Amino acid sequence: MKECVLVTGGAGYIGTHTTVELINAGYDVVVVDNLSNSDISAISGVEKITGCKIPFEQVNCLDKAALDKVFKKYKFNSVIHFAAYKAVGESVSEPLKYYHNNLGSLMTVLELMQENGVKNIVFSSSATVYGQPEELPATENTPRQKANSPYGNTKQIGEDIIADTARATEGKITALALRYFNPVGAHPSALIGELPKGVPNNLVPFITQTAAGVRDCLNVFGDDYNTPDGSALRDFIDVVDLAKAHVVAIGRLIAGKNKSVYEYFNIGTGKPLSVLELIHIFEQVNGVKVPHKIVGRRPGDVEKIWASTDLAKNE
Ligand code: UD1
Repeated sequence: MKECVLVTGGAGYIGTHTTVELINAGYDVVVVDNLSNSDISAISGVEKITGCKIPFEQVNCLDKAALDKVFKKYKFNSVIHFAAYKAVGESVSEPLKYYHNNLGSLMTVLELMQENGVKNIVFSSSATVYGQPEELPATENTPRQKANSPYGNTKQIGEDIIADTARATEGKITALALRYFNPVGAHPSALIGELPKGVPNNLVPFITQTAAGVRDCLNVFGDDYNTPDGSALRDFIDVVDLAKAHVVAIGRLIAGKNKSVYEYFNIGTGKPLSVLELIHIFEQVNGVKVPHKIVGRRPGDVEKIWASTDLAKNE
């Protein structure tokens, strides 16, 4: 029988791409999403790419009774938990919204896993847990720093909640967190991609919308950083590669190949690229212009970060 995986937030950017790769790898998938920052058409895109009907439940992961029904309706032993808010700036102005949603959802999922005997969870974490590392590339041993936003704090606390739960249940729950660097791009079919509601906060959807004429001009936040061209350095990873990392991660837990009840891995390319380099590459590759201007630094941004990918590669 095929293994089934519950994907929370499965209508979102990384969730849709991961669902496609799970199905390509032979898994069944159930998607839960409340569509707060996504559209049901994303599920149609996944269905067109895979040729599979995707069981979809429009449920808020804070609604324990509704989510419990999903746990009881489908037979699965693994969860990939994406469902969360992710706008850094908004989290500063509305911290309770972020703590309530991101941590409440995670705790509800973990409670229901225990109550329903579901064992494996892969958690969507972020390089934001490192803050501005003193040494680069960031390895998994690089100390976490105080989060610079409530959003980042929910990723740190989320990791801690999962680690404590996995240890306390003595292996009844096994968990793996993936610390994403900067996911970009889209499935080659272009049937799914990154389409946040409203004005994008992240760089690449802003670039694509500017190139398409939806936005007038891209603001480049800062060219006075201590970097070769003065703009910030990031580790941009293709979203399909990131999606495949989830397939490997869930397979590792299912096969019991994990080395402890809670593990965490960086997922990046290991190669830094500057914001200005990325814009210029996008312009060259696509033969388009992306009107942009330099403005002041964005509060809370780190100057440079990229991943050491050794642990993920070796494991
Ligand atoms: C941020 C979060 C990260 C989170 C991710 C997803 C931090 C430090 N990082 O990543 O944890 O997982 O968002 O939401 O909290 N930029 C511009 N113009 C724009 C948009 C961005 O110049 O219109 C620049 C930013 O200043 C930054 C780079 O592009 O230097 C990347 O920004 P973004 O795509 O928002 O990702 P991060 O801030 O790296």
